[in-house]
Amino acid sequence: MADRYLSFTGTAPGRFLTRRLGLPQPAPLKRWSPERAGSPGDRLLLTAGKSDLQLTDLGLDLTASSEKPAALLLDATGVRDVETLAEVHAALHPAVRSVAESGRVVVLGAPLDPTDHHQAAAQQALEGLTRSLGKEIGRGRTVNLVRLTDARAAESTLRFLLSPKSAYVSGQVIEVGAYDESGAPADPDRPLTGRTALITGGARGIGEAVAETLARDGARVVVLDVPQAEQDARRVADRLGGIALALDITAPDAGERIAAALPDGLDVLIHNAGITRDRLLVNMPAERWSSVLDVNLASVLRTTDALLESGTLRQGGRIVATASIAGLAGNAGQTNYGASKAGIVGLVRSLAPRALAEHGVTLNAVAPGFIETKMTAAIPLFIREAGRRMNSLAQGGLPIDVAETTAWLAHPASGAVNGQVVRVCGQSLLGA
Ligand SMILES: NC(=O)c1ccc[n+]([C@@H]2O[C@H](COP(=O)([O-])OP(=O)(O)OC[C@H]3O[C@@H](n4cnc5c(N)ncnc54)[C@H](O)[C@@H]3O)[C@@H](O)[C@H]2O)c1
Repeated sequence: MADRYLSFTGTAPGRFLTRRLGLPQPAPLKRWSPERAGSPGDRLLLTAGKSDLQLTDLGLDLTASSEKPAALLLDATGVRDVETLAEVHAALHPAVRSVAESGRVVVLGAPLDPTDHHQAAAQQALEGLTRSLGKEIGRGRTVNLVRLTDARAAESTLRFLLSPKSAYVSGQVIEVGAYDESGAPADPDRPLTGRTALITGGARGIGEAVAETLARDGARVVVLDVPQAEQDARRVADRLGGIALALDITAPDAGERIAAALPDGLDVLIHNAGITRDRLLVNMPAERWSSVLDVNLASVLRTTDALLESGTLRQGGRIVATASIAGLAGNAGQTNYGASKAGIVGLVRSLAPRALAEHGVTLNAVAPGFIETKMTAAIPLFIREAGRRMNSLAQGGLPIDVAETTAWLAHPASGAVNGQVVRVCGQSLLGA
């Protein structure tokens, strides 16, 4: 399962040979660790156009000059026409080269104005710039765009995108809504303290990493998995000081059984359980179709409805569902899986505004690309190798990358992030 090519290109002969042959040059990504938590490095703030954003109050440690910034934040919210886009070029052109390895570029844009097509054209242009720069910047660096109107609402999002926690998130456009002051956690280092988080499929793979990360952030975790995986679920739960729940999420009364197991309520619901049963559609029996649709989509709809309606998911709650780039781009042999994961996107877009208005709960999706797990280890060698390299970072992601993205969406201060589908795919070429 280990990425031997990445290790090889990390050596001097490996670098020499792969450069000569014109092969991908993945850079080892610098991910978050407790040791790295304290020193983010210089974060350079640049501006294009006339901005009204109040970024300086956020305590993000931004500077106006730096020779080798770890991150570059470009405030382009004031760009209202094509002429002012020249200021975007003028700001980035001299600075991009100096951004450190595994550094971050975050562009701030404004929502598109439906009454001003010049502003909309210029702001949409930032999206093309972001995605193109992400593809050319290299050396483990990422580029993302955040559309916002109030900087305070975007604080948790900016902290995430500027940090090593977002190592495998690139080429994304994230919309941040209105500010809600109720979200500031008492302990910024353990923002989920006092909150209960349930992770479906938490016994292994991405779900296990999500459980670990939410526990790190202070949550009491409930690790749900099928009865056959109960031992593994218990092992994970015991290690994290949480509880295990042996339950097949496709049981018609799964939502009611979760509610009964959690009489004190739930704050964070992570729909992570998922299966694949690949076959070309022409060879696919109805059972393979329906089992994937049931685990990956129908059970997500059923449990979400049950836990919202019963009030088990409390005010201020967070739901994160798991889509996939296969649901955005399609994938041969995965009509069932692609349909189920596209269905997650439909669910999120439709329900998110109502879940927030009626229950005070946000609903977002993560869409992983190629993540190194048992699921992807089972892919035949050559397809697996292609899947790993076909993204701007030229490598697969790790379960922790999806987990960190989930933790940002689950953060109490992320209440203004709703209805978003965030790809954790190293800017995969599939469906981009
Ligand atoms: N690994 C990837 O590259 C990748 C890419 C895109 C999306 N995803 C999605 O991420 C999620 C996790 O993937 P993973 O790679 O960690 O998979 P995995 O197979 O390693 O783990 C999935 C877990 O879900 C559990 N599960 C399956 N059916 C269940 C059910 N009916 N009830 C309760 N639990 C059930 C399994 O027992 C297992 O513990 C899935 O939704 C998957 O579709 C993964």
